[in-house]
Amino acid sequence: MEILVAYFSPTGTTAKVARTIADEVKGDLFEIKPAKPYTAADLKWTNPLARCNREKMLKKEVPCAERIVNFSDYNAIFIGFPIWYYQEPNVIDTFVKAYDWTGKDIFLFATSGGSDIKKVTASLQPRMKGEILSARLLNKPGDITPWLDTLAL
Ligand SMILES: Cc1cc2nc3c(=O)[nH]c(=O)nc-3n(C[C@H](O)[C@H](O)[C@H](O)COP(=O)(O)O)c2cc1C
Repeated sequence: MEILVAYFSPTGTTAKVARTIADEVKGDLFEIKPAKPYTAADLKWTNPLARCNREKMLKKEVPCAERIVNFSDYNAIFIGFPIWYYQEPNVIDTFVKAYDWTGKDIFLFATSGGSDIKKVTASLQPRMKGEILSARLLNKPGDITPWLDTLAL
């Protein structure tokens, strides 16, 4: 089983979780980076004019900086991200659209300020031909290993 752990994490919280998962499942790590990195000002959602709010309101496509060249090598792919506005960030939509997910086992994980990941599977599954087998909010580091233990990897 070849496993990839792809994650977007502009402020580093989800990145830590991604590294733990990659270590435990012996997977490769790939950071999903937007072509234009987010600055702290870009993420200041309390400012109505901040980039994050404009992208959300205008449903802007956020291009990725890099492509995974050996995507077809992987059978199982974890996708991690922070919850933004109760959902996946726009750059995750771009990432999902860029690959053929047919036959892939897909696992989602997220960190957040408290919001759940539940809406995300419903949003992404219709756009992915592979099956999202599980989606988990991993705000507590202690939840990571018990979740991985439930997955057939
Ligand atoms: C633009 C933006 C929108 C956010 N929206 C939510 C939200 O709807 N619900 C929530 O619980 N947290 C929200 N957060 C908080 C992040 O999900 C949380 O801080 C996350 O752990 C950050 O992960 P990262 O360090 O990997 O970027 C938001 C943060 C930003 C920057």
